[in-house]
Amino acid sequence: MTHVFTIAIDGPAGAGKGTLARRLADHYRLNLLDTGLTYRAVAYALIQHALPLDNVSAAETAARQVNLAKLDRAVLSAHAVGEAASKVAVYPTVRRILVEKQRDFAKTPPGAVLDGRDIGTVVCPDADIKLYVTASAEVRAQRRLAEIESIGGTADFTEILADIGRRDERDMGRANSPLKPAADAHLLDTSEMAIEAAFLAAMAIIDDVLAKRDKA
Ligand code: DC
Repeated sequence: MTHVFTIAIDGPAGAGKGTLARRLADHYRLNLLDTGLTYRAVAYALIQHALPLDNVSAAETAARQVNLAKLDRAVLSAHAVGEAASKVAVYPTVRRILVEKQRDFAKTPPGAVLDGRDIGTVVCPDADIKLYVTASAEVRAQRRLAEIESIGGTADFTEILADIGRRDERDMGRANSPLKPAADAHLLDTSEMAIEAAFLAAMAIIDDVLAKRDKA
């Protein structure tokens, strides 16, 4: 039986897990799924239909309609959509529908890198590798500010920091599948690490697991 390889990456917003996931998927030739986009797609559908974010049955319908092959990052990456996504992500039925799609994706050969909040704990508890990528709230806010400024925008550092604090609280404090490191996750703090260094550190962890497996 061919083994389907899974790399689970979790962590708070802005820790750099998206970039890391992309680099790892390229390097190990695996499929890639940013599961945040699935929650964003549900939130976006509600916003488009001018429906309140606490309309659970509309959110469930939107979740069923999410097509993993048609997630439009350009449309879904808006800040307001991310905020709304963390609100619809509290509903257990919405999560159940999306988690099922995410698991199907993970099972497709040759395997995948999935990044989100509950990949190592809920979506793929048997993942071959689990990484928990984090960075201090200040560093994450600084990175977000630099990102906004790099595309000609302006923003206030204090406001971004407060925003990040609220999002962390919602993602880590919810009753259903809160963000937390899986017991067997490797922690990667990128506060003082550039993306290249984080990639090299992750690669060292993964290659070590692969080498031990080859010997076994
Ligand atoms: O990673 P992101 O910013 O695109 O995620 C948007 C929101 O979606 C996040 O605040 C919480 C939710 N989310 C989740 O609950 N579980 C996941 N696996 C991924 C995202």
